[in-house]
Amino acid sequence: MKIGVLGLGYVGIVNVACLSKQGHTVLCNDVKPQKVDRVRQGRSPINEPQVNELIAAGVKNGTIIPMDDPDALIREADVIITCVGTPSKVNGEVNLDYLHNVIQDIARNIKKGDTKYVVCRSTVPPGTTERVFNTYLNKTEGKLIPVFYPEFLREGSAVRDFYDYGRFVLGTRKGDEVQELVDLLHVNKERPTFITDLRTAEYSKYIDNSFHALKIVFANEIFSLAHEHGVDVKDAHAIFTADDKLNISTRYLRPGLPFGGSCLPKDLRELQYLVSKSQREFALLPSLIESNDAFIQSLVEQIKSKGKKKIAFIGLSFKNDSDDLRESPMLRVLDILKQEDYEIDICDDDLEMSNLRVDFPYLFRMVKEMKACVERAEILIVSKRYMNAVLPLKKKDQVLLNYSDDQYVQGEDIESLYV
Ligand SMILES: NC(=O)c1ccc[n+]([C@@H]2O[C@H](COP(=O)([O-])OP(=O)(O)OC[C@H]3O[C@@H](n4cnc5c(N)ncnc54)[C@H](O)[C@@H]3O)[C@@H](O)[C@H]2O)c1
Repeated sequence: MKIGVLGLGYVGIVNVACLSKQGHTVLCNDVKPQKVDRVRQGRSPINEPQVNELIAAGVKNGTIIPMDDPDALIREADVIITCVGTPSKVNGEVNLDYLHNVIQDIARNIKKGDTKYVVCRSTVPPGTTERVFNTYLNKTEGKLIPVFYPEFLREGSAVRDFYDYGRFVLGTRKGDEVQELVDLLHVNKERPTFITDLRTAEYSKYIDNSFHALKIVFANEIFSLAHEHGVDVKDAHAIFTADDKLNISTRYLRPGLPFGGSCLPKDLRELQYLVSKSQREFALLPSLIESNDAFIQSLVEQIKSKGKKKIAFIGLSFKNDSDDLRESPMLRVLDILKQEDYEIDICDDDLEMSNLRVDFPYLFRMVKEMKACVERAEILIVSKRYMNAVLPLKKKDQVLLNYSDDQYVQGEDIESLYV
C-alpha cells in the first residue's frame, strides 16, 4: 500500500522517515513548500536523532517521494496520514483549523471507487475524528475508513520510539476492517495491541500527557519540600521509585472510590501544613484533599439526584478486608445523607460488630444481612468487592450506583461515574 503523509513537522517527518525505512513508498507534502524542498534535498526539516540519515536514504532509494501537489498525493495514496498541528486557541481550546483544511483537501480528491484509510495522528479531543469525517468525508463517493492513531513518540528519541513503543493503539469505527492497516503500522508485534473506538484512542493521548504532567509537578513539589526539610533527595527518590508494587504500578491508577482511611488524609494534611510554612508556592500538593473532597461531594449529588429515600450502603469501610471506618469515603457520604430524611441500611461483612456497637452506635443500628439490606432499598450504593454478591439480588426497579472494585460492570439501572 502507498502511504501519503500530510504535514512535515515533528510527527510527520518521523513517520515518513520510519515508514520508508520499513520499505514502504511514502509520498509526503506540507503546506510550507520549503519543507518539501528540504526533504527533496534529502534533509530533514527538523533536528531529531537519526531522522536526517533516514530521510537522505529514503529519498536516494526512492521510497520517499516529496510532492508539491497535495491533491496528487491524496489521489495516489492508499493510506493518508494527517500530521498537522493542533495548537491552542487563546481560550485554551484546541484549534482544529489545520485538520479541517487537510480533511477538506482529502474530501475534494476522493473519486467513486476509491478505497482509502484516513489516519489522523494529530492530538485531538474525543469525538473529533468522527465529527470531521461526518462533516467532510461521508459525502464522498469513495470507501473511506477513518482511524485515529495516537502518536506517543517523544522528541529526542522519536525514531527509537517508533519501534520500541509501550503499546499499539488504533481507534476505529465499529465494523470497519483494519487488519491490513494494523499489519502495516504495528511494527513491534511484541507490544500489546489495542484496537478500540475512535474516542477512546483520541482520549488515550490526553490521559498519557496529563499523567506525565502530573508526575513532573508532583516530583517537583514533593522533592523540593523534601529538600527544605533536610531530606536526602537522591536517596528518597531511589526509595520511592524502587517500589514497583505500590508506587510505580497500576495499583492506584484505577478509577474508583475517593481516598480515605487512617493514613492518606492525615498525612496529606500534614504535607499541606508543611507547604503552608514554606516560602515557596505549591499548587498540586495542597489541591489533593480538595480534589478528593469534591469527588465525595459529587457522589452525594449523584445519589441525591435519584430522588429516592431508601438507600443501602453495601460496603462501608474504606477498603476490602478492613473494618477501618476512619475517614472512609462511603461513611462520609452516609454522614452527609443522614442529615436529611434518608432511610439507610448498611451491609459490610468486614465490619467488626462489637467495635461498631461501641464506636459507632448509630451505624450499628443500620447494619443488616445482605439480603434484607438489598430487599428494602430503592438505591444500592455498592463499593469494595460486593458487586458480584449484589447483582443476583438486585431487582429491576432498583438503581445501583457502582463504586465497587468492579467499576466496569455495566447493565440496566447500573450507574457509576466512569462507565
Ligand atoms: N511533537 C511531538 O512530540 C508530538 C508527539 C505526539 C503527538 N503530537 C501531535 O501531533 C500533531 C503534530 O505535531 P507536530 O509537532 O508535528 O506539529 P508541527 O507544527 O511541527 O507540524 C505540523 C505541520 O503540518 C503542516 N500543515 C499544516 N496544514 C497543512 C496542510 N493542510 N497540509 C499539509 N501540511 C500542513 C505545517 O506546515 C507543519 O509543518 C499535533 O497534534 C501534536 O499535538 C506531537
